[in-house]
Amino acid sequence: MSTSTEPTPTTTTTATTSAGIVDDIGYGRQFDGWYHRLFPDDASVVAEVERLVSLHPDPASGTVEFGVGTGRIALPLSRRVGGITGVDSSPEMLDVLRRNLTDDTPVEPVHADICTYTADRTVGLVYCICATLSMLLTPEEQEQAVRRAAGLLAPGGRLVVETHNKPAILDLHEGRNRATYFTPYPEPGTGLQSHSQLLPESLWHLAHVWYEADGTTRVGTEVSRLTAPDEMDAYARASGLEPEARFGDWPAETELYTAHSPLAICTYVKPS
Ligand SMILES: C[S@@+](CC[C@H](N)C(=O)[O-])C[C@H]1O[C@@H](n2cnc3c(N)ncnc32)[C@H](O)[C@@H]1O
Repeated sequence: MSTSTEPTPTTTTTATTSAGIVDDIGYGRQFDGWYHRLFPDDASVVAEVERLVSLHPDPASGTVEFGVGTGRIALPLSRRVGGITGVDSSPEMLDVLRRNLTDDTPVEPVHADICTYTADRTVGLVYCICATLSMLLTPEEQEQAVRRAAGLLAPGGRLVVETHNKPAILDLHEGRNRATYFTPYPEPGTGLQSHSQLLPESLWHLAHVWYEADGTTRVGTEVSRLTAPDEMDAYARASGLEPEARFGDWPAETELYTAHSPLAICTYVKPS
């Protein structure tokens, strides 16, 4: 576990199962080279970091991100709260993270599965954002990850989970199983076309086509499990955490959670 006073690590810690392997869905193999195009470093990152800073009970107590990816949020957040342990199952995403580390971003990359990760010290904040929890495709795995997060929290510590807002996604499909939509990005000539399919058992298949201004495209697919806030609350309760609050987006102006909110952000507290 790093603290703000420890040097920036240049290597990745690996926490494997007893079989010596880290289960990985291959997200990084598809998205590592263009993840920063899909999720640019813009005002939304500032809003998210500010909110996470305000939700941290005590930055000196430490922070863990479940599914840290390229460090999109962990890197700027670490400038504000000090050391962050960033857990991810993708070697490719962690490679990008490692390349982005600087002297003032004390993020420790840890190659591990969030369903099995444990550590020998507790922290004040664990966060699992950008729908990482939904990448676990069964309720059992999702609950297992929440249980692991709860086990990392000190009494009084907080868990923050952000995922897609299930009712809003269902609404988008207007009663059909398939929907296609295009999201233009601010940079002229760029945008994301998404082909969405609702599958049984709350599974959600997305095939994306990313358009660059020079006419090139990238294709990536992902499968998630649409997860309602009530389900997350149940996982948290089963793990000894108390549901605290729900938000519908990161900026304070749009934080009120409704069925139409773009996101479901839920916070949980470990009783003191
Ligand atoms: C959409 S990205 C989010 C990355 C980062 N949190 C962000 O906000 O940019 C989801 C990340 O979760 C990771 N991931 C998915 N399942 C995982 C698991 N079981 N254990 C650890 N990481 C996982 C993927 O490799 C990917 O880097």
